[in-house]
Amino acid sequence: MSVKTKWRLNGGDMRAQVVICLVLFVPEVFLAAPDGCTNNRGMYECDYLTVNPPLSSSDFTDPPAQRIRIYNVNADLTSGYFESDFDNLDTSSTFDPNFAATLEIKCKSGAGAVSVAKDFFSYMSYVYEVKIINCKLAIQDSAFSGFKVLNQLVIENGTTTFDEKAFDGVQVQKPTSAGHKIPVMSGSLVIRDSTTTGNILPAGLLTSQTGLVSLTLEGMDLSSLDDSLLTKNTALRFLSLGHNAFTELPTGLLDNQNSLAELHLYNTRLECTCEKLWLYKHLDTTRTKVFGDVICSSPTDWTEKKAAVFYYSECVEAPAVCGNGMILLGACVTWLELGLSIMCIVAFILSIVVLVLTIVTKKEAEEGAEGKRRGGRKPTQPRQSGAQALPKKSGPTKAKGAWN
Ligand SMILES: *[C@@H]1O[C@H](CO)[C@@H](O)[C@H](O)[C@H]1NC(C)=O
Repeated sequence: MSVKTKWRLNGGDMRAQVVICLVLFVPEVFLAAPDGCTNNRGMYECDYLTVNPPLSSSDFTDPPAQRIRIYNVNADLTSGYFESDFDNLDTSSTFDPNFAATLEIKCKSGAGAVSVAKDFFSYMSYVYEVKIINCKLAIQDSAFSGFKVLNQLVIENGTTTFDEKAFDGVQVQKPTSAGHKIPVMSGSLVIRDSTTTGNILPAGLLTSQTGLVSLTLEGMDLSSLDDSLLTKNTALRFLSLGHNAFTELPTGLLDNQNSLAELHLYNTRLECTCEKLWLYKHLDTTRTKVFGDVICSSPTDWTEKKAAVFYYSECVEAPAVCGNGMILLGACVTWLELGLSIMCIVAFILSIVVLVLTIVTKKEAEEGAEGKRRGGRKPTQPRQSGAQALPKKSGPTKAKGAWN
């Protein structure tokens, strides 16, 4: 309509039409995306059913291939999907500093199993955040090794089968030398709402993840955990194991966790025995904080009651109220106080003895004086003999003369 109006106004000037055509088509020419992909505010959304692989990074022009979501995935992910030129992306000067380079894989609703092969993510090491959602995944040996280092790996809503070496060749950690700015450094591995085959994780699944900072294994229907599951993840600060089916935590699970600050155990039911609730003692000594509703599944008296209350009422002896001394008549007396008290009592007894002796001596002296007054000479005799005895006593004085 407006074209027609302008046409009339310009009196049939063909140039006006050309200009209008250019204005209409220029954005599409410059915001180019490969077939099957559309640019949604900087995020390329690519329909797996339409894309004609391999995708080439040169087909994503403005913006560059910083963020890609591949949806409608319904088949195995194997090598040859990404062209090798993704390795040469100029990430430092052309990437938007507000986002980390991201790759998302979203499966088609109702799709069958999707296996992820080792080479699918080859040439994608510029990507630091990966999310895989709604998939029935079979993750093969070293499936993520193409990324080398990831700041964040999220697997959500689906089912998952892990090869024991699924995470080999990739380090999920806070990246130290990323080619572009990563707004939030998290070093986190998140697997959430994704039922795991056999309801158990392979024991060695996480042994390669030595720099992992945050680990979430939630809603995976895990019926048990291996006590060596986290042995190598010694940099962990955050751990969430909530919404699972296990009813006890293996005793060695948190050994070597010296930086763990938070443990989340939402929606967790544990068998309440003092031995199986070792966790609370461990948390007391390590000062790790536990969050979540941890409820007893047994014994019957305690079902649906808090495990922490069970532990502190059934398993912990009354704390020593009198640590540095002994309880005496209901009061805490320190050893110093006790020593001083005993010395006081001894001194008191001694002073009484002295007092008694003084009185007795005084009495005897008085009796002696009275006897002298009444008896006349008789007491004098001993006095005289005493006086005679005196020179005898000074015998040593004579001996003194012998020295000369
Ligand atoms: C989870 O995945 C299933 C199967 O693909 C899908 O139908 C469902 O909508 C997803 N749920 C969420 C919350 O995305």
